[in-house]
Amino acid sequence: MREQLNNIKLEAEKRLNQAGSLAELESIRLQYLGKKGELTAVLRGMGQLTPEERPQIGQLANEVRSFIEKILEAKTKSLQEKERLSRLEKEAIDVTIPGKRRFIGKKHPLSIVMDEIKEVFIGLGYEIAEGPEVELDYYNFEALNIPPGHPARDSQDTFFINDDFLLRSQTSPVQIRVMEKKKPPIKIICPGRVYRSDAVDATHSPIFYQVEGLVVDRGVTMGDLIGTLQLFARSLFGEDTRIRLRPHHFQFTEPSAEVDVSCWSCGGKGCRMCKDEGWIEILGAGMVHPNVLRICGIDPKEYSGFAFGLGVERTAMGKFNIDDMRLLYENDMRFLRQF
Ligand code: DAH
Repeated sequence: MREQLNNIKLEAEKRLNQAGSLAELESIRLQYLGKKGELTAVLRGMGQLTPEERPQIGQLANEVRSFIEKILEAKTKSLQEKERLSRLEKEAIDVTIPGKRRFIGKKHPLSIVMDEIKEVFIGLGYEIAEGPEVELDYYNFEALNIPPGHPARDSQDTFFINDDFLLRSQTSPVQIRVMEKKKPPIKIICPGRVYRSDAVDATHSPIFYQVEGLVVDRGVTMGDLIGTLQLFARSLFGEDTRIRLRPHHFQFTEPSAEVDVSCWSCGGKGCRMCKDEGWIEILGAGMVHPNVLRICGIDPKEYSGFAFGLGVERTAMGKFNIDDMRLLYENDMRFLRQF
């Protein structure tokens, strides 16, 4: 029995020293000290010993037990420490690694211009109106004094969904939608997307942006329109900007005009930008046609109004000196970061 105990001691010591994990230690502990363990088995057999042997073997067994326990304890501590260190190592953060750079987005040049336009008109007490991009033929053409078959439709050929629905070719239908709902005084602008079946080139796109304006009240005159546009042009292109109205024809205004601003590049002397004209066209405008007021239930004898429609791309291209409209839609970051 003495020999057995010594063997247990040697063997347990060896195995404990080789153990590489806490789980392994636990299984070794059970193997020797557990209820069904080897040392426990030896102690159980002590009944067969002589009374002289018993205390000696008992003492030896206790020594072996406390020997194993001591190693177990020491080994547990060192393995715990080792596991802690390896966990720390795994969780370690290298604060010297350069961070991931996040790029802050920028406003698209069209949004910059649209926001500036909104700012000017909100400052003048205008409200922002909206209308659908999928529009009824009635609002896009008919109610704007452009009946079916009228040649004025040709210049705004768009995408038809069926006979009644189309993608709006201008923001002017919003004028009708506003006047149907609201009685004068009316002062709105409507920035929005419009569609035409145009081929893409440096100055055309099948999708583009307009800002529509409408003012209806008692006694609104052409002078109000000119004053408003003058102020608008100065806010957007600088204090020295002048405007010029050229007679034109739109079905929904009478009289109508195309409006130019003095060239923002040369100030009016003539340069490449304005093709030596000194002027650049930016919008169409006029006094709201009596037929249009009437169709919306507004009496043209009592009320009058002016309206205008501005091309946002053209304005942005002028303001930022962009020579090809396609650049505005390609989403090339090298281009967009410049604004
Ligand atoms: N809707 C016209 C176009 O797209 C622009 C326009 C002209 C709008 C005169 C107006 C206006 O409100 O009065 O060509």
